[in-house]
Amino acid sequence: MKLAIAADHAGFDYKKELIEWLKSHGHNVIDFGTDSDASCDYPDYAYPATEAVLNNIVRYAILICGTGIGVSITANKMKGIRAADCVTVEMARLARLHNNANVLTFGARLISLELAKEIITTFLNTEFEGGRHKSRVEKIHLLTGR
Ligand code: RB5
Repeated sequence: MKLAIAADHAGFDYKKELIEWLKSHGHNVIDFGTDSDASCDYPDYAYPATEAVLNNIVRYAILICGTGIGVSITANKMKGIRAADCVTVEMARLARLHNNANVLTFGARLISLELAKEIITTFLNTEFEGGRHKSRVEKIHLLTGR
């Protein structure tokens, strides 16, 4: 699967590990930075990664910061983006199943790298259920204009 990944300084180490792990599982990963653990501003990296989703360059984006909250807020400002900040595998499953989330976010300061991998695996392998959830998801964009 073609994926975008981005992180700020708090998520940099996880990003590095996860890129190798995703590639070892056959994924094609585009790295939108940051490139070191030097302090930086998460919108600078989250924004271009979400653009890659909106431009159909990648299927999903994975965004990492300290909590996952900053990158999630940034991503959800973009029209057409449905970002879910997940701290459990069940949240990742339901974010895809019910919300058709196209961006996964999490906090490197809150969850282990092993749990992050389980969350990613579940997110990537769960399809949107559609049905009653389809009109709800459509309504998000209709009512908010985003
Ligand atoms: C950086 O210290 C931290 O604020 C950032 O990674 C993120 O958690 C913000 O939501």
